[in-house]
Amino acid sequence: METIFSGVQPSGALHLGNYLGAIKNWVELQNQHRSVFCVVDLHALTVPQDPKTFREKILSIAKIYLAAGIDPEKSIIFIQSHVKEHAELCWILNTISRIPELERMTQFKEKAERHKKDLNMGLFDYPVLMAADILLYKTNAVPVGEDQIQHVELARTLAERFNNYFGETFVIPKAFVRKEGARIMGLDDPSKKMSKSAPSAANYITLTDSPEIIREKIKKAVTDSGKEIIFNPIEKPAIANLLTIYSLASGRLIEDLQKQYANAAGYAEFKNDLSEAVVEFLRPLQEKLKELDSNEDVMLKILNDGAQKARQIASQTMKEVKDKIGLI
Ligand code: AMP
Ligand code: TRP
Repeated sequence: METIFSGVQPSGALHLGNYLGAIKNWVELQNQHRSVFCVVDLHALTVPQDPKTFREKILSIAKIYLAAGIDPEKSIIFIQSHVKEHAELCWILNTISRIPELERMTQFKEKAERHKKDLNMGLFDYPVLMAADILLYKTNAVPVGEDQIQHVELARTLAERFNNYFGETFVIPKAFVRKEGARIMGLDDPSKKMSKSAPSAANYITLTDSPEIIREKIKKAVTDSGKEIIFNPIEKPAIANLLTIYSLASGRLIEDLQKQYANAAGYAEFKNDLSEAVVEFLRPLQEKLKELDSNEDVMLKILNDGAQKARQIASQTMKEVKDKIGLI
């Protein structure tokens, strides 16, 4: 059975892009794979976190995994900092990572621009820690959104380099990116991806937005000129994005939706129906989240068990790595 590994940072509320681009796919993949899903708290530390709210943020991501349908009987769910081998392997991989290859990372370049005054080493090293996450579990495939492909490529490079220097140790992972949903765009600006760090909350729908807020945000969402509801990402990027969201939320084909609205007089009816599709899509998740809120002990136990299982695999890999390098 092939292994998949993925993770999300606890750096704020998750949005529809995270769900459609990543987590929704995990739920489907967990049935045919040995699956490991991590809350990558150490990654989130690369930007300032408030210690008073960090714990809640970390737990909220784990809750979303469970509420979305990640099943702890089938998958390992755990918190990155509970398994020390992640930081340990990161150090070893640092010694075979090259500075120019990290300087090339798009996400680093963007964040370096935003954090000019307080640019920390963690931001630079972020992709190496991510490579450690992936390689520890001998991962075959990494289900992520499009923005993470470059990081998975680096994990491949480091795995190949380590194997060349020290002998066959790591599996060479590949990114698993679905065609639809891999890059959900901002509702207020369809030229940029939906993002938690967008300046306006009109950019995204969070997984915990109420039905009223969802309706309001979709009503305000930018559209393109003309009235046709057709899927054309180049000429009609806003409508293409809304059609993608509609299709993934409702489970209906884009062609089907195009047909339904072929004679629409404008965007109003389409937007109304889309809002309802998103509200219904998120409803079960939101209901399960509420249940989990009153069940923190159960959650903590799941995370503890997950960490234990993860540790077994990670410590085995780490032992192999140390042997190969000649550490005593
Ligand atoms: P992050 O919030 O950066 O930790 O991302 C968590 C996961 O969501 C990663 O697999 C990302 O690739 C994915 N993701 C983030 N933003 C989007 C988006 N706008 N569209 C699709 N996937 C996304
Ligand atoms: N960097 C990823 C993101 O921002 C999160 C992440 C950390 C990750 N480690 C990972 C994703 C390992 C997949 C595999 O989305």
